Amino acid sequence: MSSSAVAYAKKNHSRFLDELKALLRIPSISTLPENKDDCRHAAEVLVAELKRIGMENARLIETEGHPLVYADWLKAAGKPTALIYGHYDVQPTDPIEEWLSPPFEPTERDGNLYARGSADDKGQVWAQIKALESLMAANGALPLNVRVLLEGEEEVGGEGIASFVASKPPELKADFALVSDTELFAPGLPTLCVGLRGMIYTELEVRGAKTDLHSGMYGGAAPNPFVSLAQMIAKLKDENGHILIPGFYDDIIPPSSEELAAWESLPFDEEHYRKTEVGSRELVGEAGYSVMERTWARPSLDVHGIPGGFIGAGAKTVIPAKALAKISMRLVPGMTPAKAFALYKAYMEKVAPAGVDIDVRLIHAGDPCLIPVNNRFVQAATKALHEVWGKDTVFIRSGGSIPIVGDFDRHLGVPSVMMGFGLPDDNIHAPNEKFHLKNFELGIESIVRFLEESAN
Ligand code: BES
Ligand code: MN
Ligand code: MN
Repeated sequence: MSSSAVAYAKKNHSRFLDELKALLRIPSISTLPENKDDCRHAAEVLVAELKRIGMENARLIETEGHPLVYADWLKAAGKPTALIYGHYDVQPTDPIEEWLSPPFEPTERDGNLYARGSADDKGQVWAQIKALESLMAANGALPLNVRVLLEGEEEVGGEGIASFVASKPPELKADFALVSDTELFAPGLPTLCVGLRGMIYTELEVRGAKTDLHSGMYGGAAPNPFVSLAQMIAKLKDENGHILIPGFYDDIIPPSSEELAAWESLPFDEEHYRKTEVGSRELVGEAGYSVMERTWARPSLDVHGIPGGFIGAGAKTVIPAKALAKISMRLVPGMTPAKAFALYKAYMEKVAPAGVDIDVRLIHAGDPCLIPVNNRFVQAATKALHEVWGKDTVFIRSGGSIPIVGDFDRHLGVPSVMMGFGLPDDNIHAPNEKFHLKNFELGIESIVRFLEESAN
């Protein structure tokens, strides 16, 4: 089956790529206050482009944080409505010295485009917009109704979009959502993601003395909050990767035996994964669970950083007054952020050593999600992917989180199709993030075909 929109996309590919590079030059790091204007700038560029390709009502929607981008085209009477979602914010770039080319100077190397945000998620958002442009330019109309909703706070928990979606605005009335923010299971293997982990991101603060103290004068008598913090962290997980928070595992709904069997048959080489993706001496985690189960269907707990105290060159003999750890937990179906946080907070309060006060703060949270696969939009997606990639689609889950996907289902009753084009080795959130250029190209074609198929 030929599509004039796909032909248009092929013909205009090098312009599409140049435009993506311009978007990637904007350092829209959502977590850093100094990049606030850059986030707004990226949002404005997206609004202008959506207008230019013929979308209507293109505008910013203000939130308490970075703005949302909205546009629609609703002239396909009697056809379904797609809600197209992605995010324009990116992660920070540290450690900057490990980048082989600057993170905000997109650079092509060996078939990849290197830049912060190239795979997560600007390259995928641009693929969505270029698919819409191709359909519109080739046919003078879209095959179905489309609403576009992009956010600038996905990497920091997505509070703005969550309250917008919870208010159930008429702008979000749709039959399904297309979410392009995930990855293929392996290069060249068309993939739909059907489950995500949720998360709670927390700060654990420990306070000892009223001020920093000389460690010779007071060491031995005054509490050291870093030592207390380390003792508390050590009580969170045992040597076998089992989380020790009482009740933490109680509500987990395990994957079905069919789903587990499907994961078993995925092309996965654990040794290759250990060596090339993780690069550690050994993999760790709960005995009796495969890597897929550990990362997709079991909760996890990680410490991200322990800022504070003396970290300069040389030595300073001080007992810091306070210590802090940034700690997050990934949640799986059955678990809720509210209960997981309450159990964790109560446990930390119980095990806090004598002599210190603690504060357990929730920074942000998102629910886990599992999406239904027996609907016509998933069928349209697998058909479209087969046309473009020449292979049957694999269904996977992902250990990452996209908090709004669960909300689309819960608040709007809109099922998501998570069709993403990243690769496992794209280095998202890490130095040298890249997007495989072939995936950008085939991603655009896949979205074109998917929207065409969804209209039938
Ligand atoms: N796109 C990722 C999530 C993802 C990664 C899905 C890999 C599938 C495969 C997303 O941008 C992300 O990084 N989300 C954050 C959310 C958090 C800050 C609430 C995450 O998972 O850490
Ligand atoms: Mn993302
Ligand atoms: Mn991300």
